[in-house]
Amino acid sequence: MTKKVHVFNHPLIQHKLGIVRDKNTGPKEFRELVEEISKLMAYEITLHLPLSDVEIETPVTNTSVKRLSGKKLGIVPIMRAGLGMVDGILSLIPVAKVGHIGLYRDPETLEPVEYYAKLPEDIGERELIVVDPMLATGGSASAAISAIKKRGAKNIKFLCLIAVQEGIDKIHEDHPEVPIYTGALDPGLNEKSYITPGFGDAGDRLYGTK
Ligand code: PRP
Ligand code: URA
Repeated sequence: MTKKVHVFNHPLIQHKLGIVRDKNTGPKEFRELVEEISKLMAYEITLHLPLSDVEIETPVTNTSVKRLSGKKLGIVPIMRAGLGMVDGILSLIPVAKVGHIGLYRDPETLEPVEYYAKLPEDIGERELIVVDPMLATGGSASAAISAIKKRGAKNIKFLCLIAVQEGIDKIHEDHPEVPIYTGALDPGLNEKSYITPGFGDAGDRLYGTK
């Protein structure tokens, strides 16, 4: 099984991530940047999508054009923070269905606790992108992937803004078939299992709550 991690080196993604990391970036700009970065990542992550030829009429003549022809797509944000990535992706792939997985990391045990799941009925036929800005210990992402597999998901990618090796190892161990796409590989976790340097608590920064 190939264990894949892809880091997006696109200059716009790297530039915008730098602003997201700054503690002086307020909620409005933080939300806008997370959305913009997710949109740029959606462009990169869809480069492989298959096309087929279809015949159409332009106002001038008949011609053959390209249409997406592969599996339908699905986006599965891990709530809360994953929600901040959805609109950017949907702006490029408006027909994608959005499923939701609600998980929070218990502050004492650091274990993920599932509190919500609502997924497309045809989840088994879709190419799914599980999204969360942060891959830290990997507990939440792994649990979210297990939760959607249990409900029939087969074709899954994981997309985040920043990741650390510990989280990558966790996904590789539990779900070796799932490729991971990230904007950066940070050096590690602090004593609270926050990514360092990271960008703090993305959920809190997106929504202004603690
Ligand atoms: C954050 C983040 C991930 C998780 C990452 O969510 O959005 O889901 O932590 O940590 P892990 O890799 O160690 O599991 P959090 O639990 O803070 O919930 P929230 O999105 O509701 O703020
Ligand atoms: N949860 C957060 O809020 N921040 C991190 O860096 C990791 C997990």
